[in-house]
Amino acid sequence: MPIYHQLGQVPRKRHIAFRQPSGALYAEELVGNKGFVGPSSLLYHLRHPTQVTSVRLVRAFDWRADPDPAFRHRHFRTSQLAPTRSVTADRLPIVFNSDVALSFVQPTGQDEYFYRNAQGDEVIYVSDGRGVLESQVGDLDFGPGDYLVVPRGVLHRMRFSEHPVRCLIIESRGYVRTPKRYRNEHGQLTENAPFSERDIRRPARLQTIDERGEFRVIAKKDHRLTEFVLGHHPFDVVGWDGYYYPWAFNIRDFEPRVGRVHLPPPIHQTFEGDGFVICSFCPRPYDFDPEAVPAPYAHSNVMSDEVLYYASQEFMSRKGVEYGSITLHPDGLPHGPHPGRTEASIGQKQTDELAVMLDTFRPLRVSTTVLPVEDRDFFRSWVE
Ligand SMILES: [Fe+2]
Repeated sequence: MPIYHQLGQVPRKRHIAFRQPSGALYAEELVGNKGFVGPSSLLYHLRHPTQVTSVRLVRAFDWRADPDPAFRHRHFRTSQLAPTRSVTADRLPIVFNSDVALSFVQPTGQDEYFYRNAQGDEVIYVSDGRGVLESQVGDLDFGPGDYLVVPRGVLHRMRFSEHPVRCLIIESRGYVRTPKRYRNEHGQLTENAPFSERDIRRPARLQTIDERGEFRVIAKKDHRLTEFVLGHHPFDVVGWDGYYYPWAFNIRDFEPRVGRVHLPPPIHQTFEGDGFVICSFCPRPYDFDPEAVPAPYAHSNVMSDEVLYYASQEFMSRKGVEYGSITLHPDGLPHGPHPGRTEASIGQKQTDELAVMLDTFRPLRVSTTVLPVEDRDFFRSWVE
């Protein structure tokens, strides 16, 4: 989990009288997971965060799995998906199971409401676009290659300053964290980890807005969006501290590992969740033994479904994929380099590939929403 952070004013101790210049009390709020024992932050508001004036169901998501039960390697071209308006309401599910869901969105507009995911943590990979993730605990600037980790319950909205925007969203039932093997018993990332706390960006500017009116918050719970109207602006926090906040890590700050001969995918691991891992394949020199085969060997990834998002045009072991492609290699079928790629990799010095991999430990279902952009012959693409 990220490190302790503080912005704005907080009282000398927790849970003591903390007064505004008017003499009124600031309203203290604990935001965290696992009740009172998980990672959390204490926020100090101008007004009570509980003042909801109306509630209504906005919509229910009806995610449907591909009815074709024959499992095979799959390939979807997100470049053929039409842009939509909202970064929160218009996400297209790609694959999902009970632990994790992968969605894609190309928002053309800005949400006029605030958003809170109350059913899962989100990792948003910003493939294109720039902007600010505004939240009750401060502003976080983002740009291409950023992973934005937004723990559940954090009230926020994304404002875009540069289009087009393309985002991959990994929504997790469990808490998303850095891999346990990268941290020591005190929680610090060790010298062996491929990134450090210095690479993790935290909210930097705290907005404290003292404004009455009608402010809409859309919360996601049980695959439904519910609207709550507040009688005041939700960004009314004067200070906070703790361990629970949105944070950013850029894929190009991942320090890739290289060996004399091929090192397996776990060396690319970046995040872990419950039932899945996320890995980053970054530009790097190849294995340095003169006889090394830099392309990976074929593998059956038993007990794991493997999803790759191709974040650049290049991926050394593949043919026929493009920027924005998503492939699914399900458990139970071997996959590996495409014909000619193994031989072509020998003697190569480096790769410029950039890709995000989601490996799940339970089988994934393919959403019907991506069937129109499927490359249906992909499973035959290894035939020589
Ligand atoms: Fe693989």
